[in-house]
Amino acid sequence: MKNMILALGLLGIGVAHGADVDLAKTIVKQKCHLCHGEEGEASSAIYPRLAGQNRNYLVKQLKNFRDGKRKSDTMNEMAKDLKDDEIVALADYFSSKPALTHRVRDKEFAAVGRYLYKKGNKYSGIPACKSCHGEFGQGTDELPRLAGQHKRYVSDQLQAFGERARSNDNAIMHTIASKLTELEVEALALYVSGLKAEEKAAP
Ligand code: HEC
Ligand code: HEC
Repeated sequence: MKNMILALGLLGIGVAHGADVDLAKTIVKQKCHLCHGEEGEASSAIYPRLAGQNRNYLVKQLKNFRDGKRKSDTMNEMAKDLKDDEIVALADYFSSKPALTHRVRDKEFAAVGRYLYKKGNKYSGIPACKSCHGEFGQGTDELPRLAGQHKRYVSDQLQAFGERARSNDNAIMHTIASKLTELEVEALALYVSGLKAEEKAAP
């Protein structure tokens, strides 16, 4: 049994240990819940929702905050003492929480975002977001989920990518975001904020 656990560990297969969930819960209660909420739902629209966010993407971002590659005064401080196993436990914890969505009131404006999301803008050379972030904004294990994210956070990040203020791994998103107009940014942020969690499983 011990060997099997060791073998699974070496293969990097995530076995959901109760101990890891407890470890994550303790850290969330101590440090993260004030801004991101106990279940990753986020306490305010300026803080990203982490519930249902993809696991490997979360691991990467937390390591990048810890190592200072992704600059954020708040998050660099929050992540600086996290150990690798704590980061993995936190990523497992938040990625397993059900994702939430928003009710979008301005359907007409969201439709502008929908068009850009699905088709891009061939006149300014913006690729369709869905080609990387998925038809329903679900992302992949490595790429962030956008579905249900707060629109304020999404528009802040697009702006940060455009200015290269988001300092880690910004090559692709900088090229894209630097070409987006303010109207396009806001429409895209509104649209993805209303994408639904349950569509994640749809074909
Ligand atoms: C005081 C508020 C605050 C606290 C407490 C906090 N965060 Fe954050 N978190 C933020 C902000 C603000 C951002 C956006 C940073 C940016 O890009 O400028 C963020 C971003 C993140 C991201 C990136 C999300 C994405 O979609 O890229 C992760 C992951 C994260 N936080 C995890 C945590 C964890 C885990 C903890 C607890 C150890 C924590 N945060 C504590 C405010 C907070
Ligand atoms: C060629 C692939 C690709 C395309 C097309 C693409 N993205 Fe991204 N996007 C990425 C990658 C890669 C990252 C994550 C970078 C990292 O790992 O830090 C990202 C990150 C983001 C983030 C940050 C999410 C978070 O949780 O912090 C937002 C917002 C975003 N993209 C929006 C968009 C929008 C809107 C479009 C369409 C206009 C788009 N992306 C098109 C690859 C792409």
